[in-house]
Amino acid sequence: MHQKVFIFAVSFLVAYLGCGEAPFVKMTNAVCKSYNQSWVVVHYCRLKAYSRTKTSLNINATFIEPAKNISLHAKAMKKANGYKPFLVDFTIDACEFMRRRNHPVAKIIWNLIKNVSTVNHTCPYEGLQMVSDFHHVELPIPLPSGDYLLLLDWMFDGKPQFATNVYFTFIEDLLPTSSKHRRSSLSFRTDV
Ligand SMILES: *[C@@H]1O[C@H](CO)[C@@H](O)[C@H](O)[C@H]1NC(C)=O
Ligand SMILES: *[C@@H]1O[C@H](CO)[C@@H](O)[C@H](O)[C@H]1NC(C)=O
Ligand SMILES: *[C@@H]1O[C@H](CO)[C@@H](O)[C@H](O)[C@H]1NC(C)=O
Ligand SMILES: *[C@@H]1O[C@H](CO)[C@@H](O)[C@H](O)[C@H]1NC(C)=O
Ligand SMILES: *[C@@H]1O[C@H](CO)[C@@H](O)[C@H](O)[C@H]1NC(C)=O
Repeated sequence: MHQKVFIFAVSFLVAYLGCGEAPFVKMTNAVCKSYNQSWVVVHYCRLKAYSRTKTSLNINATFIEPAKNISLHAKAMKKANGYKPFLVDFTIDACEFMRRRNHPVAKIIWNLIKNVSTVNHTCPYEGLQMVSDFHHVELPIPLPSGDYLLLLDWMFDGKPQFATNVYFTFIEDLLPTSSKHRRSSLSFRTDV
């Protein structure tokens, strides 16, 4: 009896969450570093907490000399006994990307930040670069729930200059379809 009540409660909770809950992304930490202070100075690189479930990213850095040849190494990691490489690992010519938008994964990242950054132009880049109050995190791709780390390493003239690394937590949409719902109900029943 006790167990049945529990099963009912779980099914109800699962059905309830399935009705309205979208996948959930929360940035949990941001770490930036300059490898060459005479080219890139990072003034500010922080998350601001809006609520328990929402944070915003703010980055403010100065490129002391113009950067004309920029490449980006992007690598995603997923936490499982430490961070392990996860699907994304590529290097692109960032100047070419800003001219052609020619890389699908870079485009996903670009589409997220283009509204809230000062970088919407082609190379060269010089002076103050910012990402301000970035909080509209919506990934157009499904991911398994978990803790992730997106490492972005920036090179000028082929040499590493700075990194912008963002940690985030992703919680999968619990029940996008009714068939999934049926399956989970059935599996609860077999436990009785
Ligand atoms: C560091 O920055 C200076 C100034 O722009 C540049 O001349 C030098 O080549 C850079 N060093 C490295 C290792 O990238
Ligand atoms: C960027 O950071 C520097 C150093 O903290 C600060 O002086 C400057 O006002 C900031 N700029 C903007 C536009 O936030
Ligand atoms: C970009 O800005 C437009 C207009 O302000 C807004 O409707 C849209 O949701 C924003 N997109 C992102 C990804 O922030
Ligand atoms: C970026 O710049 C292009 C070309 O100047 C412009 O058409 C576009 O609306 C800009 N996008 C954003 C998000 O500011
Ligand atoms: C950028 O710099 C690297 C290293 O010096 C060089 O191999 C590459 O050809 C340059 N790219 C462009 C587009 O000039």
